[in-house]
Amino acid sequence: MEPVKIGILGLGTVGGGTLNVLTRNAEEIARRAGREIKVVQAAARDISRSRICSTEGVALTENAKEVVSNPEIDIVVELIGGDTLARDLVMNAIANGKHVVTANKALIAKFGNEIFSAAQKKGVMVAFEAAVAGGIPIIKAIREGLAGNEIEWLAGIINGTGNFILTEMRDKGRDFADVLAEAQRLGYAEADPTFDVEGIDAAHKLTILAAIAFGIPLQFEKVSTEGITNITREDVNYAEQLGYRIKHLGIAKRTADGIELRVHPTLIPEKRLIANVDGVMNAVLVKGDAVGPTLYYGAGAGAEPTASAVVADIVDVVRTLTSDPENRVPHLAFQPDALSTLPILSMDDVVTAYYLRMHAEDKPGVLAEITRIMGERGISIEALIQKEPINKDSGATVIMLTQPVLERNMNQAIAAIEKLDTIRGSVTRIRSEHLNSQ
Ligand code: HSE
Repeated sequence: MEPVKIGILGLGTVGGGTLNVLTRNAEEIARRAGREIKVVQAAARDISRSRICSTEGVALTENAKEVVSNPEIDIVVELIGGDTLARDLVMNAIANGKHVVTANKALIAKFGNEIFSAAQKKGVMVAFEAAVAGGIPIIKAIREGLAGNEIEWLAGIINGTGNFILTEMRDKGRDFADVLAEAQRLGYAEADPTFDVEGIDAAHKLTILAAIAFGIPLQFEKVSTEGITNITREDVNYAEQLGYRIKHLGIAKRTADGIELRVHPTLIPEKRLIANVDGVMNAVLVKGDAVGPTLYYGAGAGAEPTASAVVADIVDVVRTLTSDPENRVPHLAFQPDALSTLPILSMDDVVTAYYLRMHAEDKPGVLAEITRIMGERGISIEALIQKEPINKDSGATVIMLTQPVLERNMNQAIAAIEKLDTIRGSVTRIRSEHLNSQ
C-alpha cells in the first residue's frame, strides 16, 4: 500500500520533535497504523536554520501555503501556533480536503467550533490531542475511555511553565522571573509567556477539556482566568503550614445551575496526589459518576512528549482514513447536533473555599470584627492563624481558611473587612479546593 503523505507546518520545538519521533519509530508506527507514514514536505520560517531534527528526504519551503495545497499530501500537521496564520492555513487545508493534526490550543479553543463544522462538511478529521497537557492522552481518555460516564468535574495542572515556577519558588525560593527565563530557555513557555503566567494558556486548554467532558460548545471567552503573578513566597509558606500546596488549576465543574469554568491559583490539601505534581509535569483529575476519580499524569510540554501526542493523532487519522465520516469519533466527543446549551456560571455564582491573609492592628476586638463580618454572610471559618507583629509598628498577620461559600458573599465580606480602620492594605485571597471524591 502507498505510504500516507504528511506535510508539517512549523519545524520548531514540537515540529522537530515530531519529525524525530516519526523517523526513529517509523517501523513501530507503521505496524500500528497499518501503513507507512512519510513526511514529504515541511514549512518553516527560515529553512536555513539549524534544527533538532534531520530533514533528509523532506522538501522544505518557507511558504506554508504550498503545503496545504500540495495535492500529494493527505494530512497537514499544524505546529506553528498562534491563531491568525494557523487559522487560515487550517481552514485552507480543510477546504482542500486534507485531514489536520494540530497542537494548537489557542486555535481550537477560539475557533474550534468553526473549524470542526468545516471539517465535518468536508468529511475530514481534525485531531488535537497535543493541544492539552502535552504528552498525556487526556483527550482520548475523556472522549473515548470515559464515554460511559456523566463527567461531574475535572481539575488540572495544565500549564507546565506555571507549575515549574510555583514548584521552584516553593522548593528553592527562586525568583519568579528567573524561573520563567529558564522555562523559556527549555522551550516550555509560550511565544508570549504572559499566556503561561496569566493563565491564558490554561484557559485555552480548559475550554477544550470542558467541551469534551460536558458536550458543550467551545467557549473560551467565558472562562474566568487568574494568573500566578500575585502569588508570593509568604503565601506559599503559610499554605504549607496549613497542610496545603498552591497549584495553578483549571477547574470545570457541572452544577445544578450550569458549568463552572475557571483558572486560578488554588490551595489543595498536600496529601492529594495532584498536589505533588511538580516541575513542568501536568496532571488532570477527572471525576466521572461511574468510574469515580481518575488521574492522568505526564509531561505537559517539551519536544518529544508533545510529539508523542501529535504522532498518536496521525496514527489515529491514518487508521480511520477509510471509515465512513459519520462513524468516526466526534471532534468534541458528543455528536455535533447533541451539544448542550448549559450556561457557564459567572464567578459570583461559584462556590469554593478560601485562604485569606490580611494585616491587622494588634489590639483587642479586631478578630471579633472580622469574624462578625464573615458570620453575617454565612461564611464559616475552618482554620485561623495569627502571627504576632515583628515589631511594635507592624501589624499582626491573620491567615484563615474558610468553608466553601458563594463567591459573591466572599467578595462582600472582603470589601467590608478592607473598610475596617484596623485592617491595613488589601486582603489577599486564594481559592481552595479539597478535590475529594465527592
Ligand atoms: N507553554 C505551555 C506549558 C506549553 O508550559 O504548558 C504546552 O502547552
